Amino acid sequence: MPTLLDGKKVASDIKQEISTRVDELKSQGRRAPNLAIIIVGDDGASHTYVNGKIAACKSVGFDFTLMHFASTISEEKLMKHVENLNSDDDIDGFIVQLPLPEHISVERVTESIKPEKDVDGFTNQNFGSIVSKNQLIMPATPFGVMELLRRYDVETEGKHCVIVGASRLVGAPLGMMMTEEGRATVTLCHKYTQDLASHTKNADILIVAVGKPGLISEEMVKEGAVVVDVGTTRVVDNSRKSGFRLSGDVDFATVSEKASFITPVPGGVGPMTIASLLLNTLKAYEDQHS
Ligand code: GUN
Repeated sequence: MPTLLDGKKVASDIKQEISTRVDELKSQGRRAPNLAIIIVGDDGASHTYVNGKIAACKSVGFDFTLMHFASTISEEKLMKHVENLNSDDDIDGFIVQLPLPEHISVERVTESIKPEKDVDGFTNQNFGSIVSKNQLIMPATPFGVMELLRRYDVETEGKHCVIVGASRLVGAPLGMMMTEEGRATVTLCHKYTQDLASHTKNADILIVAVGKPGLISEEMVKEGAVVVDVGTTRVVDNSRKSGFRLSGDVDFATVSEKASFITPVPGGVGPMTIASLLLNTLKAYEDQHS
């Protein structure tokens, strides 16, 4: 049986470490880090994620500020709120929860966030700093994946890492981080990739971030591979009270027979994204207060 890459457990360890640091700050008479969260509209999944982020802030002793706007808010008004948060000294970092309504440009909004406060690590400046000696704030989900592998002592140097999904928020920055810090040889697959299995079968480390349940079946995975599933799709499940369950991109039941390490969904990368958000907020606080 493979070793489970238990993101829930690692995230809980990280939260404990952050909590100790917050106690230290408070004992020095300093205020706690303060994270602001902007959410637009009433998408159920987004509200669930945001509630998880708020619970995480509470658990480590961070302050938080929740700003909820109707889906009809104009881009101009939303940008005004972003500008206010950029210049508010009581806010150390903030995020704009995605997705946004179609009439609002995600790129314009995220690019207007001051990089020092961009604790999701979405801005071009933070993205670019992955390849700089002077790293700023790392994209949260890729950072969470790297940290999860580090804490299980998964060797990445010289390994062949195949990433499926080249999104701007996960696959692309993860490819850069795996190359830079991970010193891995990276193959980045995307929707135009031909014969996906011919690539995934060669992976020592296979990371999948697409959002298509069951995309990766057992025949597509090499014996002994490390498998990281970033996918989280809500699929209908009437046997549950909520009416849905979360599904990853990997067929866990069969792939886990072959893998040496594997993340569960839920309880793998998801909690690590939240832990990274907290680490980034603490970094933003420390950098802006030093
Ligand atoms: N929507 C889904 N995941 C994320 C995330 O990590 N950050 C933000 N801001 N929105 C999201």
